[in-house]
Amino acid sequence: MNQYLTRIYQALFGLVWRNYPLARPQEISGKDAFYRLPYLLIQAGKHNPLIVTGKRIATGDEFATISQDISHYVLFDQVESDPSIATALKIAKAYTDNNCDSIVAIGGGSYMDAAKAAAAHIANPKKSLYRMNGILKVRKKTPYFIAVPTTAGTGSEATITSVVINEKNQRKVTINDPVLVPDVAILDPSLTLSLPASLTAQTGMDALTHAVEAFLNKPYLTADTTQLCLDAVRDIVQNLPKAYKDPLDLDARSAMLNASCTAGKAFTVACVGYVHGLAHAIGARYHMPHGLTIAILLPTILERYGKAVEQPLAELARYAGIAEGSDSICCQAFIALIRQMNKAMGIPEGIEALKEEDFKQLASYCYQEVVPLYPVPVIFSEKELVEILRNVKEMGVS
Ligand SMILES: [Fe+2]
Repeated sequence: MNQYLTRIYQALFGLVWRNYPLARPQEISGKDAFYRLPYLLIQAGKHNPLIVTGKRIATGDEFATISQDISHYVLFDQVESDPSIATALKIAKAYTDNNCDSIVAIGGGSYMDAAKAAAAHIANPKKSLYRMNGILKVRKKTPYFIAVPTTAGTGSEATITSVVINEKNQRKVTINDPVLVPDVAILDPSLTLSLPASLTAQTGMDALTHAVEAFLNKPYLTADTTQLCLDAVRDIVQNLPKAYKDPLDLDARSAMLNASCTAGKAFTVACVGYVHGLAHAIGARYHMPHGLTIAILLPTILERYGKAVEQPLAELARYAGIAEGSDSICCQAFIALIRQMNKAMGIPEGIEALKEEDFKQLASYCYQEVVPLYPVPVIFSEKELVEILRNVKEMGVS
C-alpha cells in the first residue's frame, strides 16, 4: 500500500476506532490489593480459576495467603519468557481439561499475554491461534479474566493485545481484540518490590514507549487518550529513576504500576509504532528481552522522525516538567532525557548482536506490522528501516 492510501486508510479507520466503546478493566489499586483476589472471584461467582503464574509467585508468602481463601484452583506455572503459541494452547487445554471457570494471570507480560492468548483460543477453539495475528480475529466471549501485573511495563492488564511467538517461524503474533481486555486489573505495588533493577529499568522504559508512541499517533487520539499519554509520561520520567535507585520506594513503585496501566489504556486505542515493530522483529529473531530492545530503539527512532515529532515531543517535555522554551529545544531535551535515563540505568546505546544478513527480513517484518495499521508520524520504507538497523548495530559496537 502506498503512503497516500495508507494515510487514507488510517484516517478512515481512526474515525471509527478512536470512538469504539472499548471496555476497561475494573482497577483495584494499592498496597495489599492482591489479597482481595479471593473475594473478587467469589463476587464474580467463580469457583474454579486457572491460575497462570511463575514458580517465584506460586511459592511466595502472598500466594500462600490468598490460596487459603480460594476453595479450588488449578495452577499452571510453565510459561517461558516470550511465550509461544504452543504454551498458550497448553494453558487452554489445562482450562478445559479441569473445567475451569475463570483465568487469573499473575506475573509480567509473558504470563498475562500467554493467558490472554489461551483465553482467545478457549473462546474460539475452531480458529487456529496461528492465524489470529491482526485485529478483531477472536470476536467471541472470553473467560472471566483477572490480571495481576508484577512488573510495571507491559500494560497488558489494560489492553486488547496479546503478543505470543509462533514457534514454527519465530515470528511474533500480535492478537488484538477488545474481548481480550481483562475484567479486573489488580495493581498492588508490593508485588513489584522484588523486581531486579535491570527489569525495573527495561519494563519501565517499555511503559514510557507505549505512552510516547501512542501520543505520536494523531489520527487515533482522543482528548481522553491524549491525557492518558501525558499523565503516563510525566509519572514515568519522575518515578522510574526513583524506583530504579531505591527498589523499596513504595510510592515510586505504585506510581510506576499505575502509569504502566495508564499507558496500556492509551496505546490499546492509539497503537504503538516503529519502536515496537522493530523490537518485535528483533526480539523474536535474537530472543532479546522486549523492554531492553524497546529502550535501546526509542531515542534513535524519535530522532529519525525529525521535525514531524518536534511539537508533540515538546508538549510531552513541557507537561512532564523536563524543559521550557521552543519546540525544538523541548524536543531535543526530551530525547536527551531518554538517552540519559538509559545510560543511568545501564541500558546500552545499540545492539551489537544484530546481523547485517538479517536486516532485510527484520525490516520487512517490522513494516508488515506497522503499515497500514499504526498511524506513525513518518512512514519509513523498508530501505530506511534497514538503515536504522545498521545504525543501531553501529551504536552497539562503538
Ligand atoms: Fe511494549
